[in-house]
Amino acid sequence: MFKFRASKIVLGKGERKICGKILKEINAKKVLVVTGKKTGKTNYFLDVLRSIEEENIDVTVWNEVQTEPDEETINSGVEFTVSKDAIVAFGGGSVIDTAKILNICEGKKFSELKIPKKLKPLIAIPTTFGTGSETTCAAVVKVGGIKKGILHESLLPDFAIVDWGIKAPKNVSASAGMDAIMHAFEAYTCIESDCVQSNFYSGSNEITDSLSLRALDLLKNLPEYVNSGEFARKIAVGSNIAGMAFGNAGVHFGHAAAYAIASLCDAPHGVCVSSIGQALMDWLRKLDSVKDKISIVDKIMNIDEIRKKVGLPSLSELGIGYDDIPELVRISMGIDRLISMRPEIDENAAKEIFEVALSY
Ligand SMILES: [Fe+2]
Repeated sequence: MFKFRASKIVLGKGERKICGKILKEINAKKVLVVTGKKTGKTNYFLDVLRSIEEENIDVTVWNEVQTEPDEETINSGVEFTVSKDAIVAFGGGSVIDTAKILNICEGKKFSELKIPKKLKPLIAIPTTFGTGSETTCAAVVKVGGIKKGILHESLLPDFAIVDWGIKAPKNVSASAGMDAIMHAFEAYTCIESDCVQSNFYSGSNEITDSLSLRALDLLKNLPEYVNSGEFARKIAVGSNIAGMAFGNAGVHFGHAAAYAIASLCDAPHGVCVSSIGQALMDWLRKLDSVKDKISIVDKIMNIDEIRKKVGLPSLSELGIGYDDIPELVRISMGIDRLISMRPEIDENAAKEIFEVALSY
């Protein structure tokens, strides 16, 4: 048995302008728009705002979201959801995650959080293509300085608008795009649905495998997109379906390692996760249950070649050395919900993967 969930999605160049129409259709009268300071100043954002105002919907903008939201950020935003009947998130993964958490807080402080059954409709409009947050049931928040993933069915946005007319700065596109590649790769190579006991994620299956492979095939164009702006559609759609794949199947050691790496250096998530990608792929080749899948991925891409072409650093270029490996192993192996999705990776395997990653 496995389940599959995804947001209702509209995809297209310029589709951000239909936000107001969607809100009108669901009969929203008072709307909160969540964004970041810089993103909230872009013309893309003004298009969204105008589309809402054109429908005579009352709109409040809260633009205080910072990268990697923490408890304080959430607490400073909770009051703005009160008396609204829908929420729009316009931004990268941090903005969408913040909006998801504000929605489940229902006006109360984060520490009092009890996930309610019925939530306000949430429309997610990603401005970077990578996290897939617009179609997943996950949100990441820093609690006491430590990143915590919240997983719940009710965090799935009701609607997503994927607009490939929106452009992010090159370094952001590179990091986000590599994150998407790792989502597709890890979803494809995590344990199969039949082997998953009682996890939030279903494990890989026919649906997520087909999405993962198609995502990788689209996302292999990331260097051209980052360097020349070509293939925006492929990257936007690829990132979205990679989100659907891992939002259902799950991810495994690559993301556990990324959280460990992030605790030692201050690099963006996509940079951390891509620095371990090729070494993880090399190790998985040894596993009988995954080796056929790895040879299929081999034909589509070499993760490290793409990382280099989009200008992201290797693990050693992030300032990580051999002395850091015991700490990286300790932190990554402690993230059970991810490690359980590829349980063959034990402490020795993790050590080996980090060592190989340092040689790239
Ligand atoms: Fe990720």
